[in-house]
Amino acid sequence: MGNHTWDNKDIFNFIDDEERLIRPANYPAGTPGKGFTVLRNASGKELAIVNIMGRTFLPPLDCPFQGVDGILEKLKKKHKYIFVDFHAEATSEKIAMGWHLDGRASVVVGTHTHVQTHDERILPRGTGYVTDVGMTGARDGVLGMEREAVLQKFKTQLPVRFTADEGPWQFHAVAVTLDPETGMTRKIELVRRFETEALFD
Ligand SMILES: [Fe+2]
Repeated sequence: MGNHTWDNKDIFNFIDDEERLIRPANYPAGTPGKGFTVLRNASGKELAIVNIMGRTFLPPLDCPFQGVDGILEKLKKKHKYIFVDFHAEATSEKIAMGWHLDGRASVVVGTHTHVQTHDERILPRGTGYVTDVGMTGARDGVLGMEREAVLQKFKTQLPVRFTADEGPWQFHAVAVTLDPETGMTRKIELVRRFETEALFD
């Protein structure tokens, strides 16, 4: 999840029950939900996934750098494969988090800006990194919202209700191969597909 976690109040009905759902870990202690989870595949391999949110141009949560350190300290005892989703606005904060976690997390992937960045790489100590993975949703709106409403808001500065755009979709992701010995990244590739193309090669 991210900064929109609480936009629909129905979330409170299931956030504590859904194992696969995580919200930023650096909300104050006692906030519903959790900031990390562990997924298992059919062969029993486990992947720990952490969601943490930046503070630059976003609500002032607890320090994401200290927060992720505390979580990694716990996870590292049991888990080799750790994926960190850093939900943040500023590229500088995301790049800084990549360096902060190099050699400690298997992968650090930025989210929130909805625009996929072309800077995927493996950092010197083995962490796979990309500043923003992009979005899955409507391609011809503005960040997934119907564009006329967004334009009206920018032009008039009056309150406008946004709705999700229903035009052709785009699918953005990142495909990462991890090393079974070290848990670090061997290969990181961007995935970008549009509705008008075949989804898989
Ligand atoms: Fe966001």
